[in-house]
Amino acid sequence: MPRTAFAGTGFYVPDRVVKNDELTQYMDTSDEWIIERTGIQERRWVTDGMTSAEMACRASKMAISAAGIEPGEIDAIVLGTLSPDVFFPGTGVFLQRDLGLEGIPALDVRAQCSGFVYGLSVADAWIKSGQYRTILLVGVEIHSTGIDVSTRGRDLAVLFGDGAGAAVLTATDEQDRGVLSTHIHADGNHAEMLWTEAAGSKNHPRISAEDIAAGRHYPRMEGREVFKHAVKRMPEVVMEALEANDLTTNDIDLLIPHQANLRISQMVQRRLGLEDDQVVNNIQRYGNTTAATIPIALAEAVRDERLERGDLLCLVAFGSGLTWGSALVRW
Ligand code: ACO
Repeated sequence: MPRTAFAGTGFYVPDRVVKNDELTQYMDTSDEWIIERTGIQERRWVTDGMTSAEMACRASKMAISAAGIEPGEIDAIVLGTLSPDVFFPGTGVFLQRDLGLEGIPALDVRAQCSGFVYGLSVADAWIKSGQYRTILLVGVEIHSTGIDVSTRGRDLAVLFGDGAGAAVLTATDEQDRGVLSTHIHADGNHAEMLWTEAAGSKNHPRISAEDIAAGRHYPRMEGREVFKHAVKRMPEVVMEALEANDLTTNDIDLLIPHQANLRISQMVQRRLGLEDDQVVNNIQRYGNTTAATIPIALAEAVRDERLERGDLLCLVAFGSGLTWGSALVRW
């Protein structure tokens, strides 16, 4: 059976840097509060004209170039996002068009912050089954156009940023590298713990003046509850992956956690007994870009030469749904 190898990675973040101090112009918050509670110093926001598809395209071209392949070699696109450019169709088809890949399938994955790990699980299964050999896996998000930047929305508005990350996955016959496993989970009992209610098809009409007045078109979150679930589920699903592969935390060379909050990542690190240099954190510069955090962090880790052939890489995600998952990769 072929294995799934990471052949190339890439990322794109908008040029516009929004520092914490800028947010104090829009809402009652402070640089100190944001840094102390979240670790975030700045994030990127798109400017007019930039779309998710365009950011995904730029990240994808970097990943394709790094993989040393031609776009035409891609057999399928899997794209994770909770912020599609339009209600439908999904962003994947716009990316497919922009890359000139008419005919290949484009699957949008709606697993929020776990989108990249969920997408990897799907892509890995496709590659192992022999259905496809080369898959473009993308995570992309634009939050800045959909957050409440008034004081009412400050708990969420300070967390989120925009960006895109991509990876080219290829089938390899080398049995000493590639994806070892993926484990993905969900618990819909907590679907409303972090959600955007409007505009949704359960509403008649999908969005009303009352919805807008109440802010139901903005994401809403029970932050403390989300935090508690995240610090439980992330270590748990890493241990599940290690046990399934007869490995231990001592075998992990690099952990890339979903960048939700630096305090969450630090608690996960402590629970797994990892050193600082074994964990990738870039939330300080980009905030939480949901489905894009892991592929952006991965592309930066590759660029910074933090991964060597043979290293054990662990990806772990947690987010709205609730959804969570992990992947172990022999680099
Ligand atoms: N600036 C200043 N004060 C604020 C802000 C802000 N941006 N946001 C909230 N506060 C206030 C609150 O109103 C509250 O004030 P009060 O005590 O007068 O009522 C006080 O700060 C404390 O609020 P808490 O919500 O208890 O603060 P907490 O320490 O829990 O931090 C945070 C809030 C950062 C949102 C935290 O709960 C968290 O990170 N939760 C997890 C969030 C997360 O990971 N979400 C994303 C994961 S899933 C995904 O990515 C889709």
